[in-house]
Amino acid sequence: MGDDDDGSSITSSIYSYVYENGRRYHAYREGNYLLPNDAEEQERLDLSHHIFRLQLGGALHFAPIDRNLKRVLDLGTGTGIWAIDFADEFPNAAVIGCDLSPIQPQWRPPNCSFFVDDIESDWTYARHEAFDYIHGRGMGGSVSDWPLLCRRSLEHLNPGGWFEIQDYDTAIYAYNDPDLETAPRTREWQVLVNLAAERSGRTMNVAHRQKQWMIEAGYQDVHEEVVQVPIGTWTKDPRLKEIGTFQLEHMLSCIPAFTLAPLTRVLNYTVDEVRLIMAGVRAEFTDPKRRLMTKFRFVYGRRPPHAHAHAHAHAPSHSPPAPGDVLPAAPTAEEERRDGPPSPDAIRIRNVRDIGSQETVDSRNRP
Ligand SMILES: C[S@@+](CC[C@H](N)C(=O)[O-])C[C@H]1O[C@@H](n2cnc3c(N)ncnc32)[C@H](O)[C@@H]1O
Repeated sequence: MGDDDDGSSITSSIYSYVYENGRRYHAYREGNYLLPNDAEEQERLDLSHHIFRLQLGGALHFAPIDRNLKRVLDLGTGTGIWAIDFADEFPNAAVIGCDLSPIQPQWRPPNCSFFVDDIESDWTYARHEAFDYIHGRGMGGSVSDWPLLCRRSLEHLNPGGWFEIQDYDTAIYAYNDPDLETAPRTREWQVLVNLAAERSGRTMNVAHRQKQWMIEAGYQDVHEEVVQVPIGTWTKDPRLKEIGTFQLEHMLSCIPAFTLAPLTRVLNYTVDEVRLIMAGVRAEFTDPKRRLMTKFRFVYGRRPPHAHAHAHAHAPSHSPPAPGDVLPAAPTAEEERRDGPPSPDAIRIRNVRDIGSQETVDSRNRP
């Protein structure tokens, strides 16, 4: 993987898309990635971009990157929406987005370029092409060896440069019901989707492991932020209602994207069986009484700066909302009857010290 050439070597084979069950899939390194790349999927990715930004108060990053950074790499850029927005906001930075699918627009800021490339292949960037910031978002299910990707990213960062992974857990839970007793179809669905991803060699539910992988790869100042996000409008908090509205739409489009190829190709389900499973999950997602939620995670760390490190970290241009410091007590049954369900904001978790208890909650939902 590298940007030594001018990127014009796209051959028609890259556009020889695979069509299956009404969806379109990538052709380059065919089959490595199980989600589609068609217009419907591109809409999902752009919606997810909006949801990530809402959580960051409009920002594109959580890491305290240098405003004067020069080179930025976006791993698995998808529609390129993050890279384009970042290039607009940082006009002095050269932003490179790479992906297996050539689905990025022709129009883009002059400081933004896209490459069809496999981030799991050897990286061929020369030393003078090192990056100040490497970003990957929503990449669970795309990578077979995360520790290797973390090490590679570290090697291709300038001293003091930041690596940031933004992702959501592929683990759903319900308020006061971590075992999803009240949403059995969702529980079955996520077990199957995660199992298929696991068997395909690219585990999907990896967000909760990123922090440890970064530490083991040698990053410094590794930080993880965990944000609980409602699926739907069942919360009282207006900001979370807004995020939950978008997240419900997003989750509804995740159902076919995450289910069709994984279950038919990997677990050998018939399409009719898959459609039945999808209909059950859809019914549960759209039922506000289930009070479903998921977690988004923002994990970042930096390459240790050398004595002559040029990167000087300071606060992000937009400060993301501050996390709650403590885990508040759960409401009593009486309070819940009177006030309705609490907003998940009230149970937002400050990750660094609480990661142990997060693991406990998550592991009950993991297959
Ligand atoms: C869930 S999408 C996320 C897209 C984008 N990062 C975003 O947040 O909007 C994952 C993307 O990674 C790409 N991808 C998967 N495996 C890849 C690989 N080995 N090398 C490059 N891109 C890959 C897919 O084609 C897809 O566009």
